[in-house]
Amino acid sequence: MAGRSFDCARRYNGWAPARAALSQDRHAPSVASCFRAGQGRRTLARRALSDTNDETTPPKITLEGVSCAYRGRPALCEVGLTIAAQSVTALVGPSGCGKSTLLRVLNRMNDGIEGARVTGRVLLDGVDVYRDGTDVVSLRRRVGLVFQRPAVFVMSVFDNVAYGPRAAGRREPRSVTRAVETALRRAALWDEVKDRLDADASELSLGQQQRLCIARALAVEPEVLLLDEPTSALDPAATARVEDLLSELRKTLAIVVVTHAMAQAARVSQSLAFIDGGALVEAGETRAMFTRPKDKRTQDFLSGRYR
Ligand SMILES: Nc1ncnc2c1ncn2[C@@H]1O[C@H](COP(=O)(O)OP(=O)(O)O)[C@@H](O)[C@H]1O
Ligand SMILES: [Mg+2]
Repeated sequence: MAGRSFDCARRYNGWAPARAALSQDRHAPSVASCFRAGQGRRTLARRALSDTNDETTPPKITLEGVSCAYRGRPALCEVGLTIAAQSVTALVGPSGCGKSTLLRVLNRMNDGIEGARVTGRVLLDGVDVYRDGTDVVSLRRRVGLVFQRPAVFVMSVFDNVAYGPRAAGRREPRSVTRAVETALRRAALWDEVKDRLDADASELSLGQQQRLCIARALAVEPEVLLLDEPTSALDPAATARVEDLLSELRKTLAIVVVTHAMAQAARVSQSLAFIDGGALVEAGETRAMFTRPKDKRTQDFLSGRYR
């Protein structure tokens, strides 16, 4: 009996760093050190299995053989990937590997880039978003994109968030006000801006501006939220707020987040996809990717030993 409790305690302590990172403790040591912790992997594997998404739930998005080239130069090559509903999927990989391109492929933002050509299928709830007759405006309402640097419009806080609902035809002031308040609350920004809704959005802090951009995306009630390195310009406190927000939003949305911070990927995501040179190297459940990567390149990248 004594022997068994000693073993449990040792296993528990040996795994403490990774456990902390994977359970959203942002004071945890780096994921690389977690990866080296070594002990307790069996415990982790068991948890990973119990946390895996229900495989009977159809994916929100399915990519089939998706390639993208800019003026004939390949940027993505035959990517196959599924994005689960009510879940955060982190996209990681070295600079220039195609992460932003992949996000833009999902809501056809690449349509606006001259010389960009996408092939393959992107199924949203089973329907190819590239099929003839797709209403791209309504697609982008369903699949919202938030950029790396907060791109607030030069207008008031209120008008930034009201922009989408108004563009979608909502005119009745009380209904617009309701939509704005709901979106700002969902973006965990309401309490900070409720008394300055008429202020110019550029007066907000960078972290508030990023949450304002998220609120603006939420105001049109999307089903999928894409975020391209949303915290790279933010300080640790603002980063923490956005991370907490993602954990809350995933209860109702499918989220895809590009991040350069492996500890952030470990904290916020349930699934992880590693891209290199435009190709998907490996994708899977986040804990399993960190502890039992199948590909040596994944192991090197996730543990910070890449190149
Ligand atoms: N608008 C564009 N026009 C031409 N080439 C582009 C454009 N956007 C990205 N690329 C190229 O596509 C490749 C992938 O870029 P990107 O998707 O931005 O990578 P990441 O987001 O991983 O840094 C890079 O070689 C980049 O130079
Ligand atoms: Mg990018």
